[in-house]
Amino acid sequence: MVLLQLLCGLLLAFSLYGGARSATHIPRQSPLQDVVTWDQYSFKINGTRLALWGGEMHPYRLPVPSLYLDILQKIKATGFNTVSIYIFWGIMEAKRGEVSFEGFRDLQPFFDAAKKAGLYVITRPGPYINAETTGGGFPGWGTYTPGLWRTSNATYVEAYQNYIRSVGEKIAANEITKGGPVILFQAENEYTGWQEPYTEDFEYENRLLKDIRASGVTIPITTNDAFPGGHFVGVDVYGYDSYPNGFDCAHPYTWAPDAVPEWLWGARIAINPEDPNAMFENQGGAIDGWGGAGGANCAILTGPDFERVFYKNQFAMSTTVWSIYMLYGGTNWGGIAFPGSYTSYDYGASIAEDRTLREKYYEIKLQANFGRVSPAYLTTRPQNIGASQGSFTGNQALKTTQVLDVVGNKTGFYVVRQTDASTHDTQAYKLTVPTSLGTLTIPAIGGSLALHGRDSKIHVVDYSAGSTHLLYSSAEIFTWATIDGKDVIVLYGNSGEVHETAFTFKDTTVPTAKVVSGRGSIQQKTLSSTSLAIQFTTSGQTVVQVGDKTTLYILDRENAYQFWVPPSPSNFAHVTAPREPIIIKGGYLLRSATTSEGRLAIIGDLNATTSLEIIAPQALTKTGVTFNGKPVSELKKTNYGSLVGRVSAVLPDVKLPDLKSLTWKTADSLPEIKKDYFDDLWTIANHTETVNPTTPKTPVVLYASDYGYHTGNILWRAHFNATGKETGFKLDVWGGTAFGYSIWLDEIFVGSFAGDWVQGNYEGTFKFLKSLTQGSSHVLTVLQDHMGLNENWAGAGEDFKTPRGIMSYSFVGSDETVISVWKVAGNLGGEDYVDKTRGPLNEGGLFAERQGWHLPEFDDRKWTSGKPTDGLPQAGVAFYRTTFDLNIPDGLDYPLSLVISNSTTNPHFRSKLYVNGYQYGKYVNHVGPQTSFPVPHGILNYKGKNTLAVSLWAMDEGGAQLASLDLKLTAKIQTGFGPVVNAPLTVWTPRFRAF
Ligand code: GAL
Repeated sequence: MVLLQLLCGLLLAFSLYGGARSATHIPRQSPLQDVVTWDQYSFKINGTRLALWGGEMHPYRLPVPSLYLDILQKIKATGFNTVSIYIFWGIMEAKRGEVSFEGFRDLQPFFDAAKKAGLYVITRPGPYINAETTGGGFPGWGTYTPGLWRTSNATYVEAYQNYIRSVGEKIAANEITKGGPVILFQAENEYTGWQEPYTEDFEYENRLLKDIRASGVTIPITTNDAFPGGHFVGVDVYGYDSYPNGFDCAHPYTWAPDAVPEWLWGARIAINPEDPNAMFENQGGAIDGWGGAGGANCAILTGPDFERVFYKNQFAMSTTVWSIYMLYGGTNWGGIAFPGSYTSYDYGASIAEDRTLREKYYEIKLQANFGRVSPAYLTTRPQNIGASQGSFTGNQALKTTQVLDVVGNKTGFYVVRQTDASTHDTQAYKLTVPTSLGTLTIPAIGGSLALHGRDSKIHVVDYSAGSTHLLYSSAEIFTWATIDGKDVIVLYGNSGEVHETAFTFKDTTVPTAKVVSGRGSIQQKTLSSTSLAIQFTTSGQTVVQVGDKTTLYILDRENAYQFWVPPSPSNFAHVTAPREPIIIKGGYLLRSATTSEGRLAIIGDLNATTSLEIIAPQALTKTGVTFNGKPVSELKKTNYGSLVGRVSAVLPDVKLPDLKSLTWKTADSLPEIKKDYFDDLWTIANHTETVNPTTPKTPVVLYASDYGYHTGNILWRAHFNATGKETGFKLDVWGGTAFGYSIWLDEIFVGSFAGDWVQGNYEGTFKFLKSLTQGSSHVLTVLQDHMGLNENWAGAGEDFKTPRGIMSYSFVGSDETVISVWKVAGNLGGEDYVDKTRGPLNEGGLFAERQGWHLPEFDDRKWTSGKPTDGLPQAGVAFYRTTFDLNIPDGLDYPLSLVISNSTTNPHFRSKLYVNGYQYGKYVNHVGPQTSFPVPHGILNYKGKNTLAVSLWAMDEGGAQLASLDLKLTAKIQTGFGPVVNAPLTVWTPRFRAF
């Protein structure tokens, strides 16, 4: 879907491309503050130049605020310094005029956590966000607000005022200018393509910028074009997005041959040469839709090889503002998703939905740390864009971009990758480059370098690491630090690769290098009276001493993955203030390292017993080292100055409930079809007009949103008197991709459209099983699924207004039958939703949901016993509840998932899973793909009682049941993070006018 959008965008952009800022563009804001400034190379904070490298998470996709810090520390631990967030208008202002920051919608805990983690924040509140969210972030009431959205149309501009003002004020209060972490404010989102005949609406852009400023925001305003197409360039700093590997997670090994987008540089420099190269979204995973391949596949499509090739291509373009979308995806709990996404928003991101770390996380860490210690990069320019093929290697199968520091000390970065990005071939090459010693061919000692398949490397020339001058290095740099007067440089390559690193010495004679630890060997050669080259194979870990001033750690990738440069906790200013030079080899995750009184305190997570190697000034460790508060055992000094020790992981088994042996209670959740059911509290669907751009084909409007119902299941009731000739009912229902519906005539099941992963609406004809007596009165009940509102990627488009409901209907055999009244039910209260804690998207319109049966402490004692794995024997909706206790000790991060196995008998059913009242799973058995539903600690109460509720909508005559339902651990981690505070697990209270 997004791919399509992008293609449309490309076409549109090339037809509309306006080039650099022109007279039609509004002038830039004059600076309102001097804390965040920029020039053509990079941003500066308080005058210090820095790269803003980081990635995206969405607080609303993790409704446990105490876990924000967990994710943010994980981001910080990669070496990144920035987190970018969307803010979702539709959940903040579900009812027009009432902007709510209640519960998980409160932004303050996120800003506080970012500050604590030491990350700068880019806020992206829209008003439009896309983000695979229902309506693309627009509120449901937008569907019945007339006028074109994402334009200067007054009705739209008025509609967003309240939200932009309220959210702007919160952001303004958390700007860096006021001591907060927020440094940038993104306006709109990919305002890049427009529905014909409309084009870019400069008046809207101008107006939005003014409205943002009016809310008190003084930091620079940015925007993200879908690609460098020159749209919305009136912002302070223009940037763009790039998803070079697309979204086909079903073919995760398929890369486009020409996918490495070198052209981005030329396009963007034509637009904003005076700004840094800013990529506000760079693919960090992929969307997966109903019937898709699953997040794990998306993680392969965008795995470590992808990161090496595509992220280093960004590096080749002097990208100093770079944000990965997503670093942590999270969960589309409740009705967050648009129809192209299911409950999981794992995204195949570096930090998986259950908050564990994928291998790709560790690859990012290598690159981010390199950026952090390479200030020369901040003033670079790529020198040979478009002419990189064969350059510097003479090998046409390779592209090498020369990225030179054009301001500072002339450091060069040479980014090498395959010309055909998709190839698995190995290319041997030599790099011939200008250096301070004249033109050199690397390796100088002999042999050649090699690029193995989908890989890319950054070779440095004339690079400073403290007082050590690297003449060049083909082995990549992870980090370096000056420790007790010596420069420690951590180099890495793939296992078994030959690399060469050379040094220039100013004041001393050329020393010899010697291996002081590890099994690797080196060859060395004096290149001149001032320079020495060493050649080595990267495998395992080898430590080499070069003279008495430089120590090299030579690692293969596996070993490099284990190295960390742990930040000092709460050191918000660390990017601009000197930090303690501490490097630690330490396994799964190191969150922070602090020193006091000669004792080093490391906080981290373990998934196995791990050896540590601590490379730190002696004074910082002289009275010991602790890991998560406990002294590190077997601490020893190595012969080359570091400290080694061991930390044991204690990963005890924990008792989990066996869900099938619990006591479950069940009740019918479709009493609406019963004879004695009164629908007097239902909303009468009696509008004869709508402003919706889709013209209804029915006498009264049957669009759920026109009656205030924007999420979850929708029920319709049609009352009629029979002519006696009716033999069936034909109807066209719209619900979004993978939706379905079922129909009952009075109490009798008529039929279902079970749904598939393609159709977003379906016209079906359903036969009545009984003939109707002339004059008899009847009720048709239609239960439909609502998969979220469409997104609205095109400006001036109205896709998000695409109705959910009944588009047309007729009786088969009887044109004259008149439906006397249509009624509709959605979530209780509609826009006046009841559960303010869990927000407007948590509940749908099922009877059970309207009654609040999914909530803790609802009294189900009078219900009968029955389990979702027993199911129900006919079409209908049943609801199940059970409770269980958990007792998982503090200090363990044991993520849990609810796991369902696919049913092949009676496959057509839909279930929703509620954990302590939070809807944490929407399962469509016959569509898939998701069968494992991660539920975070904090939604699950790890220390006490939990309520689990399940709805089961059997869509076939034969009924349905869950083949199995289990609570399973997805990882066992011992963590230094904590404590986790439960999200508010508010309990059931009587619901006014629940029906
Ligand atoms: C971008 C968009 C994001 C998200 C992403 C795909 O184009 O800005 O909001 O939809 O695509 O995941």
